Amino acid sequence: MSNIGSYEKRKENFSWDIAKQVLGWKQGEVLNIGAMCSDRICAQGKGDKKALIWQGFGGKQKTYTFNDLRVLSSGYAKFLQDLGVKPGEKVCLFMDKIPELYISFLGVLKMGAVAQPLFSAFGDESLEVRLFSADTKVILTTRKHVKKVRKIQDRLPALEKIVVVEGNPNKLRDEEIFFNVEDAPVEDFEVYKSETETPSVLHYTSGTTGQPKGAQHVHGSVWGQALTTSWVLDLKDDDIYWCTADPGWVTGTSYGIIGPWSLGVTQCVLDSGFTSAAWYQFIQDNKVTVWYSAPTAIRSLMRDGEELVKKYDLSSLRHLASVGEPLNSEAVIWSEKVYGLPFLDTFWQTETGAMMITNFPGMKIKPGSMGKPFPGIEAGILDLKTNEPVTEPGTVGLIAFRPGWPSMFREYVKKPDIYRSKFVGASENAMPPELRTDKSLWYVSGDRASFDKDGYYWFVGRDDDVINTGGHLVGPFEIESALVEHEAIAEAAAIGKPDAVNMEVVKVFVTLNPGYEPSDDLELNIMNFIRKRLSPLAMPQEIEYTEKLPKTRSGKILRRYLKALEWGEEVGDLSTLEDD
Ligand code: PRX
Repeated sequence: MSNIGSYEKRKENFSWDIAKQVLGWKQGEVLNIGAMCSDRICAQGKGDKKALIWQGFGGKQKTYTFNDLRVLSSGYAKFLQDLGVKPGEKVCLFMDKIPELYISFLGVLKMGAVAQPLFSAFGDESLEVRLFSADTKVILTTRKHVKKVRKIQDRLPALEKIVVVEGNPNKLRDEEIFFNVEDAPVEDFEVYKSETETPSVLHYTSGTTGQPKGAQHVHGSVWGQALTTSWVLDLKDDDIYWCTADPGWVTGTSYGIIGPWSLGVTQCVLDSGFTSAAWYQFIQDNKVTVWYSAPTAIRSLMRDGEELVKKYDLSSLRHLASVGEPLNSEAVIWSEKVYGLPFLDTFWQTETGAMMITNFPGMKIKPGSMGKPFPGIEAGILDLKTNEPVTEPGTVGLIAFRPGWPSMFREYVKKPDIYRSKFVGASENAMPPELRTDKSLWYVSGDRASFDKDGYYWFVGRDDDVINTGGHLVGPFEIESALVEHEAIAEAAAIGKPDAVNMEVVKVFVTLNPGYEPSDDLELNIMNFIRKRLSPLAMPQEIEYTEKLPKTRSGKILRRYLKALEWGEEVGDLSTLEDD
């Protein structure tokens, strides 16, 4: 059903119900993502088809069929049910990209609970903030990562069970449960009868102010994820697909689990550190056909050059796509030259749940542009001052979308006011159900762009202070809050600094407490402090010591001023910088 015609034709005849045709969905079937990615594929006669080809460190390999996914995910579902987990409760998945992560994700959904995947490189503070905010009931983790949970469990009143699903079961604490799903597959599990609006996946995302916000998704998101997977990633039954993202982030769930598996497509996962050679070897060994990655990875591959590419047989590749950061035109042109295929850019967010602005096969590609709004998505650029949609091509404003697409987030957990503030035109008391359906509103993304005369969107930059490092968003507030917990630091400001590969890396400005002097040791100590508490992504690559930080009249640190200096941009009239 993919490739049904040109962009215009698809737009003209568009309805989200086309997703149901693509999936062969019949009225009355249970709308449960966990079952749609496993039981339903088996019911279509594809039980013996490979679902997951996994490779870990040292070349260790494992393969799972859709039938394996079915019985093992049901194993997790039953185990959680027996543990007393109720539908709607949050179950955190805190593991590396191991098979247990992908399979337990389906299991959690099958029994009606909410899957909360968290990036396994998060330190204890990043973990605590997100588990506390979500009132997470159970955490599934591994022997390797359980230590971080131990550090914070006393501060998490809602956390009832810590389950270790992989690694050596010895030396666990009494209250920790070891569960090996391979010993407990379940043939017949009664899947929870979720519906369109039943909560499914919870992802945390960072903003400029305050701690990260939990963007809640629902089972009905699958229509958006499946259709974009079919049209934009162009996945077909015989593809071998590789999404390089970690399911701790939204790309790794929407397109690293839900999209491909709901369509019954085989996918590969590589759970080992990045090297260009290892990635090419992986593509060659597994005959990957469709590859979804990110600009930072592409720039790293570019840095390692064309000669390396020639050492591998990458002829299986037929379609490449990218997300997460601006995909510069050089990268598109380079990939076309060396792989014979351009990377096609896609733009979307944790909140949107699925791709919003896309390039897909059959469309004319303009290197450097994010493409056009996916059919069914009404996008606009809002004037920076008036919030009215602009009509003149080339005008820079805020990227916005009319609400109502299936995979749109339904709330920020416990933050209704912030949720409401994302919708231009919403009345003071508007509630999530109407915010989600009222077509007179605009959901604003927090990014700036313009469109050209052909309707192609061109990314300009973020409209806030969030740092995008290697396609991962890091909130400056989180870094600053952690920094001031360091004994030497009095005040701190965090900004993104330009970086050739990662687009941005974290730079911090600090003032020191009396009795502390800048030194190499202190610098290393501060860097490690942040890496351990937050994550390697949040670790500052540069620390600048200063006597004083620039502030607004009300005492807020002027990050934008520091950023303008760093990026060599116009600082502007400081009196015009608002207190946000
Ligand atoms: O700033 C935009 C950038 O990543 C943000 C969303 O990040 P997150 O919620 O973590 O989701 C990432 C993966 C979907 C956006 O607000 N971004 C995403 N895609 C692009 C992009 N910036 C430029 N071009 C893109 N294609």
